[in-house]
Amino acid sequence: MENLPERAQSVFPAGSNGEFNLPPEMSIVISRGEGCRLWDSAGREFLDFSMGWGSVLVGHARPEVVAAVTAQAPHGSNFAYVSEASLALGEEIVRLSPACAQVRFCASGTEATMYCQRLARAHSGKPKILKFEGAYHGANETGVTSLFPADPPDFPEPDPVAGGVSHMVKRDILVAPYNDLAVTRRILADHGHEIAAVIVEPLQRCTPPEAGFLEGLRAATRAAGVLLIFDEVVTGFRLAYGGAQEYYGVTPDLVAYGKALGGGYPIGVFGGPAELMALVREDRLGDPSYMWVASTLGGNPISTAAAGAALEVFRQQNTYPRLHELGETLRAGMRKIMRKRQIVAQVIGDGPLAQIVFSDRPVRDYRSTKRGDRRKGRALMLGLFRRGIFLNPMGTKLYLSLAHDEAVCGDLLDRLDDTLSEIG
Ligand SMILES: Cc1ncc(COP(=O)(O)O)c(C=O)c1O
Repeated sequence: MENLPERAQSVFPAGSNGEFNLPPEMSIVISRGEGCRLWDSAGREFLDFSMGWGSVLVGHARPEVVAAVTAQAPHGSNFAYVSEASLALGEEIVRLSPACAQVRFCASGTEATMYCQRLARAHSGKPKILKFEGAYHGANETGVTSLFPADPPDFPEPDPVAGGVSHMVKRDILVAPYNDLAVTRRILADHGHEIAAVIVEPLQRCTPPEAGFLEGLRAATRAAGVLLIFDEVVTGFRLAYGGAQEYYGVTPDLVAYGKALGGGYPIGVFGGPAELMALVREDRLGDPSYMWVASTLGGNPISTAAAGAALEVFRQQNTYPRLHELGETLRAGMRKIMRKRQIVAQVIGDGPLAQIVFSDRPVRDYRSTKRGDRRKGRALMLGLFRRGIFLNPMGTKLYLSLAHDEAVCGDLLDRLDDTLSEIG
């Protein structure tokens, strides 16, 4: 067979379509996926612990999702207008999401978080957004700012981190430490008059919020007259059917969804109270607070049909107890191996998410994650990849799905143990 990985290296920078940093000799081309397994073009099987970066929580080629997409496909793939499928889905999201009285669809999480921020600016007339260091909100300017600062500046100064990011982030984005209410409150007190919104991943990357953090953030933003945006692109439909809002019992002003909602198909949604969402009505064009929203593929009938089927799967009785139980089993297994091998590491995560950070101190924010031994983290990820575990070697979180089970997690743990025996 022709060498597909080599061809991929010539077509795609680093042979990849995004932040999936594999050495060239390890790069593969995937030919198909089913459940929690992938096969590459050479016929090699992988256990998938990336699951389309968490977008395929239902599992690859989940029959209910395949059936919904197959039923819709002959009837048109995009109208850029409300369809039966998108109407039903919109109604269900409004029903399940405490913050959302109305929603609009787009095609990705990056778009959804961008619209939330823009809406907050349009509503308040204030220019700035406060985000947390190390948080990712998609590839938009705020999303990448202070994502991986090598030499983090003092709070609340932002670090553009990546090339090509507009210099305007220096002016319009402020940065706070996650899980640190005191510093966040201080920034809100000093800058509340110019901050339109605080955007937060309720569970930042794989780091859970400490008790009272989200509640405190809710109270502090309200007191400062600043909107609170939950980026539920990862937590939505994953920690609970009602996402982080239900799981942590905190209701923000605006919410962004994506990933798992689409059942593996492209989707993004943003929503909030009707008076805020009214700013996007086209009959307001000309009003300074009018906000432009247009997403050519947003709410397309294929993605929304897939999402409708995914939500039906998520509503099945045992979905969330199962996802939490499986995640807990995996994290407990990882901790046990670390103890057995006397390796100093933190195993973090919640629900069906897990990450190992080689650090002797608890992880509560970006700076404590950064203290971890990243080189060892990468060696572990690559060692697992070589052993047939498909994951992102950047050392970010592992994603479980409804297609994983104890046996598959057991396989991962065996391969983890074996990899650690090699890298120490
Ligand atoms: C918390 C969070 N927000 C937003 C995004 C962006 O979503 P997308 O890649 O669909 O644009 C991601 C993607 O990883 C994410 O993890």
